[in-house]
Amino acid sequence: MRKISQFLYVNLVKPILFLFPADDVHEFFLHMGNRFGKYLFVKKFFKKIWSYDDKILEQNICNLNFKNPIGLSAGFDYNADLVEILPSIGFGFYSIGTLTYESYAGNPVPMLSRLPRSRSLLVNKGFKNKGVKNVLVNLSNQTHKTPKGISIGATNKPYPNFDSMLKDLVAGFQDAENFKNFDYYELNISCPNLLNIQNLKEQIASPTGLKQALELLEDLDLKRPVFIKMPLEISLNETKELMDVANDFSFIRGLIFSNLVKDRTNKAFNADEIKKAGKGNFSGKPVEEKSNSVLHYAYKIYNKRFILVGVGGVFTAEDAYKKILLGASLVQLITGMVFMGPQQIGLINKELAKLLRRDGYVNVQDAIGALT
Ligand SMILES: Cc1cc2nc3c(=O)[nH]c(=O)nc-3n(C[C@H](O)[C@H](O)[C@H](O)COP(=O)(O)O)c2cc1C
Repeated sequence: MRKISQFLYVNLVKPILFLFPADDVHEFFLHMGNRFGKYLFVKKFFKKIWSYDDKILEQNICNLNFKNPIGLSAGFDYNADLVEILPSIGFGFYSIGTLTYESYAGNPVPMLSRLPRSRSLLVNKGFKNKGVKNVLVNLSNQTHKTPKGISIGATNKPYPNFDSMLKDLVAGFQDAENFKNFDYYELNISCPNLLNIQNLKEQIASPTGLKQALELLEDLDLKRPVFIKMPLEISLNETKELMDVANDFSFIRGLIFSNLVKDRTNKAFNADEIKKAGKGNFSGKPVEEKSNSVLHYAYKIYNKRFILVGVGGVFTAEDAYKKILLGASLVQLITGMVFMGPQQIGLINKELAKLLRRDGYVNVQDAIGALT
């Protein structure tokens, strides 16, 4: 059924969807996903036809049970509209947000467009979300146990100075601490299209900026694990400097590699498509190579210290498996689902289980970092 769904999505549904503006299609999916999630029989139906369970994919990380290592990356479900339906589709975990202390209506449209030949999306949302408190207060206490996290960043607005941006970021975490209905945090230091990136001299994705942020967060005594969403287009040395800072803070349990591509000379782009691309930054295949290499680098240095999450350009089980072999305990995606369809999550899990067995692994955990 997953293969049939994939055929129908790629050859019939996607060509129709791609005739409409990407922002509208995204909104449509959020709306439909939210409605579907309200009905038990619909959830059971999707679970039956798409989701794939297998012991070989299960892991316990930070005292959370992950039924499989494939998660939804931050940026698709800003306002937690899909929390009820995502586990039925087959996700092993998912991240809501990025959420901010204040709500933000989003950048001027288009916030999203497609580069089909580059297998990439152009993103310029700027953290379009209802705000931490408003989202979490409406987030039901789910019956399912699928780990869900919230990604938090600073509100997208100009700040007079770095300290006031940090204050806003910390206020987001403070608000979130009042709620029990999620399992982990992502600290987003890496969105490449924010006003505070352009306007402030001091940056959170610098060793001194990150240290200041983490010192303030340490004072909150957060009870849930925090993962840092890392920037993509910095050197390995700069990555190491950020990891060294994170290493000093025990509440930072993991690192996520990586966020979007800004560099339009990236060789994964189709030349015609990139010439015509508007404002924003890119997901999908252009992220893959660099995020894999930095993931591998991080694993070699810090595999005992940090749980690593690989993200960028995962379309197939082979793509996900590669990230695991390079050092990822968990894998996230968005663009692969947009291009291949929602059945792809179960398909990736099923084929990942086959790849693990082919290579003689008893559990996915045994394959993590095997390429080092
Ligand atoms: C529409 C869209 C919105 C995104 N928004 C966020 C965001 O708010 N926070 C974040 O950390 N990453 C965001 N990202 C980046 C993704 O989480 C991910 O790092 C990146 O897209 C690479 O994964 P992919 O190739 O599977 O899409 C966004 C990506 C897309 C496609």
